[in-house]
Amino acid sequence: MSKLIPPIRGMNDILPDVTPRLQHLENVSRAILVAYGYREIRVPVVERTELFSRSIGEVTDIVEKEMYTFEDRNGDSLTLRPEATAGMVRAGLSNGLLYNQVQRLWTSGPMFRYERPQKGRYRQFFQIDAEAYGLPGPDIDAEMIVMLSRIWKHLRIRQVELQINSLGTPEARAHYREKLREFLRAHQQQLDEDSLRRLDSNPLRVLDSKEPATARLVADAPSILDHLDDDSRRHFELLRGMLDKVGVKYTVNPRLVRGLDYYSRTVFEWVTTRLGSQDAVCSGGRYDRLVAQLGGKSTPAIGFAMGVERLAALMQEEDTPVPDASPHAYLVRVGDLAQIAGLQLAELLHDALPDLRLILDCSGGGFANQLKRADKSGARVALVLGEDEAGSRRVGFKPLRNDTEQVNLAWDEVIERLTPWLE
Ligand code: HAM
Repeated sequence: MSKLIPPIRGMNDILPDVTPRLQHLENVSRAILVAYGYREIRVPVVERTELFSRSIGEVTDIVEKEMYTFEDRNGDSLTLRPEATAGMVRAGLSNGLLYNQVQRLWTSGPMFRYERPQKGRYRQFFQIDAEAYGLPGPDIDAEMIVMLSRIWKHLRIRQVELQINSLGTPEARAHYREKLREFLRAHQQQLDEDSLRRLDSNPLRVLDSKEPATARLVADAPSILDHLDDDSRRHFELLRGMLDKVGVKYTVNPRLVRGLDYYSRTVFEWVTTRLGSQDAVCSGGRYDRLVAQLGGKSTPAIGFAMGVERLAALMQEEDTPVPDASPHAYLVRVGDLAQIAGLQLAELLHDALPDLRLILDCSGGGFANQLKRADKSGARVALVLGEDEAGSRRVGFKPLRNDTEQVNLAWDEVIERLTPWLE
């Protein structure tokens, strides 16, 4: 026997018992995105490496250590996208969608990061991502957050908390970075190794360190909110006011800095305590400088990405309702005549009831075997065709989940009988 080829670490097969939950998450999200005017865009999974290093930032974990980068046969350096925002901006610029226009766009699909796999952290994972372009004011920040709250509500996800912060303009942040560096240098002996390394390259990332001693220290660090430029402070105040008015609860977390360099002003994250250390289920923020940084005209922008696997895991933890995907009916057929008649009956039912989920037994065997399979399939009703029924265009109608007796019906009557079972 030849050797089995193993899957790649951190890249999951998502099996049929999990996909209904993902589909529900995707369907609800899509419907609400559409309701708020977002239009779908599909962008490639592979982009030039430079796109990510220029947007996410050279000294970020993603660009330094997590990208799947390779040379194609032409010698061009390409990268499997670690996130969608850079590709969305690139696509917007390549297709003239951004200049002087307002765009609300969404996309979804797999992202790739060479991280250490653990629960909730994978090397291939899915995001649902939305971006709005051309809107500088805080009202789009508020609308996006309200829209996300609505998505959680529709999904019946309750155990998430919204954290918000403002990172100000890059200039104000540079000033704050110096203040923070001074503070951290003065307490250098309390810093873990990773944070010491970041002290020079990216001190803001020290703020979201998970090392207990470092986390205790940064609780007393200067707050970025005390170093915002006036416009950013006003923007943040207005946003908070709007969220208060519409009744969205949030916590201001001045240590929320995000792991990508392109952000300015508003950043936000929905976190949960139900999933262990991988606690962020949806994150985003404003990135008003990125479009220009990638060669376009200055265009304000804001967006977010949901972590699909993490949200699905949270839905499972919270036991949120998911539409049933099991078959409504299972068609048992025994005998040569019934083989053909079964196929005809199945087609007749699919024609009449487009929402019907019907399994046609194609495995053969006697009534007992087929009924066992019908039961195992989760179907609510078995339709039983023997030679007699096949000859007279009738069929046995046998409810499987209660004690109701089997009845013998004409094919037309089955349609009517099945209809209430489809709800
Ligand atoms: P991010 O925080 O890197 O932001 O990722 C967004 C979400 O993707 C996270 O909150 C998390 O739920 C999920 N996620 C990230 N890494 C993994 C992983 N290795 N395994 C499973 N899930 C993961 C971005 O990607 C930005 N592009 C978001 C954005 C859009 N900002 C503006 N527009």
